[in-house]
Amino acid sequence: MRQLALLGGEPAFAAPLHVGCPNIGDRERFFAYANRMFDNRWLTNSGPLVQEFERELCRFLGVKHCIPVCNATVGLEIAIRALGMQGEVIVPSFTFIATAHALQWQGITPVFADIDPQTHTLDPRAVESCITSRTTGIVGVHLWGQPCDVDGLRNVAERHNLKLLYDAAHAFGCGCRGRMLGGFGDAEVFSFHATKFFNTFEGGAIATRNDGLAARIRRMANFGFRGYDQVDRLGTNGKMSEASAAMGLTNLASLDDFIAINRRNLLAYRRVLADLPGLTLIARDSAERDNFQYVIVEVNRQKTELSRDALLHVLHAENVLARRYFWPGCHRQEPYRTMDPDAGRRLPRTEAVAERVLALPTGTAVGEQEIEIIGGILRDAIANADELRRKESE
Ligand SMILES: Cc1ncc(COP(=O)(O)O)c(C=O)c1O
Repeated sequence: MRQLALLGGEPAFAAPLHVGCPNIGDRERFFAYANRMFDNRWLTNSGPLVQEFERELCRFLGVKHCIPVCNATVGLEIAIRALGMQGEVIVPSFTFIATAHALQWQGITPVFADIDPQTHTLDPRAVESCITSRTTGIVGVHLWGQPCDVDGLRNVAERHNLKLLYDAAHAFGCGCRGRMLGGFGDAEVFSFHATKFFNTFEGGAIATRNDGLAARIRRMANFGFRGYDQVDRLGTNGKMSEASAAMGLTNLASLDDFIAINRRNLLAYRRVLADLPGLTLIARDSAERDNFQYVIVEVNRQKTELSRDALLHVLHAENVLARRYFWPGCHRQEPYRTMDPDAGRRLPRTEAVAERVLALPTGTAVGEQEIEIIGGILRDAIANADELRRKESE
């Protein structure tokens, strides 16, 4: 039996295995698009490749508008402003910090509501309990590509006359109730960052069925320009470049392959983790379309010898760069921690889930052989728990 690296052995992998290692589609296809871009001498400002990418996105998602932007953070900021959100907006704390920052950046207070411990997404009842006279909207997050309770949130939003935006950064290619995500709420924002299974280097898109909102978003993403030289509102630079659109069109052609590889990897993880006590892959709704881009394990401290953080330590020593997504929760990060130091009391489920989640590497850079080895590391760690604990306390 090989010795764990923390107990003096060699790391299982010579090079690091990252969570979110980029998927790269057909290079020749990308170079052909890049040549078109250079031939056109059109590098940005809604060029032909961005226009083609937008058409393809709308077709794939079955949504009327899907406006490519430079990244999802700016996409969220623009959508939040275009929807007229202000005052307080209710969001989960169990998300990437950008969801909260996109509000705070424009002087809107993110109010953190607790999550459903099964789906890790906003609990509509918790949302309702956070509503005050200053609340103007809700930003739900389809975490790990798992759809929010879209009916529950729509119900709360309608009864309280609130705007409803979805941070769909993880959810490109995922479905809900037989429809693609992108068409829910007032708008949804995707991320195409390099770490997402579908990337445009940096990038994102804002999807909406609402023509007026789409028109506002387009102008806001282009400095507020209406026409060639008239600016009729405050705007920013949220445009996607032609190079990013070239990558998007390239990767769209490989999307089914990426998803198939993610699914194969998830099934392999299911096999290797099956007999490990206390380590459970989060349940996914097999009836819905899924991109399978995150392999999320929950570590149940009552059933396993080692904590989530101890397992993380073991994996890192083996060059398996698993992540504690999204620990410790936005409410424990600045500036939110200082603004509301007691927020954790209202968020018991967020705090508990953030302590037990571990994201494992997947995507095209990982194969079944690597997953077998990762399973073996976790098995060895549990078998050597006493020795690992002794070593740690030395
Ligand atoms: C849930 C969530 N929201 C927003 C973002 C921000 O996306 P971007 O990096 O495209 O700005 C991310 C990025 O990782 C994310 O995970």
